[in-house]
Amino acid sequence: MNNLDLPKDLDTTQIITIDGPAASGKSTLGQRLAQALGYLYFDTGVMYRALTWLALQQGISMQDEETLTALAEKVPIEVTQPTQADGRAYDVWIGNQDVTWAIRQPQVDDHVSIVSIYPGVRRALSQQQRRIGLRGKVVMVGRDIGTVVLPEAAIKIYLDASLEERARRRFAERQARGEEVKYEEVLQSLRERDRIDSTRAVAPLRPAEDAVYIDSDGKDLDQVFELALQIVRSRQKQAT
Ligand code: DC
Repeated sequence: MNNLDLPKDLDTTQIITIDGPAASGKSTLGQRLAQALGYLYFDTGVMYRALTWLALQQGISMQDEETLTALAEKVPIEVTQPTQADGRAYDVWIGNQDVTWAIRQPQVDDHVSIVSIYPGVRRALSQQQRRIGLRGKVVMVGRDIGTVVLPEAAIKIYLDASLEERARRRFAERQARGEEVKYEEVLQSLRERDRIDSTRAVAPLRPAEDAVYIDSDGKDLDQVFELALQIVRSRQKQAT
């Protein structure tokens, strides 16, 4: 991953990483922090999701590592400012196709962790993520950002919550979008993603040694945001 060197004048306190399991609230926290600081918000999960969506569209087997890796190396995924006011925080494009909502389908949820296991897929997508991160002034969210993609970041947060709490949140989100969904299925799907994300050989989900651990059980969005903002401000102050 270090084939992209650190620019000499980069202020690593302006790189904030947020890792944690599915549905722990990383996206909401990341967006709010980025907005408060005037930084770019970048959710790396969308890249794995976009690749998975495309593979499903093309009928590629989730076991076909070689084809998936080749696809990861050439797929033109772009994340841009939102072009529609339909609740999205950004647009996700594959070429000229807007896949912002398509990548949130349950079918993608159920396959994305498998696609994310393959080392070649991770290498291709992580390199793009690192390139963006090294521009600085960024809040980057994912599973391995503090450990692998941007280990030099001076501010790392690991956001956790219990499986049941996360399932409740994801269930409520889905219901609010008008989807027909069962709580038990959401719970089971999250449990399986946790298992795959945290046991894979390359870049498994785990807190970086220098990450600040936040357990969001029993805390609302505002409390988590205030806590994280305090952490950021105090680290940035220490560095000056
Ligand atoms: O954050 P999310 O649920 O949108 O992420 C979807 C999947 O992508 C997640 O289950 C594992 C993978 N992922 C990853 O392996 N590494 C990242 N940095 C981000 C996501």
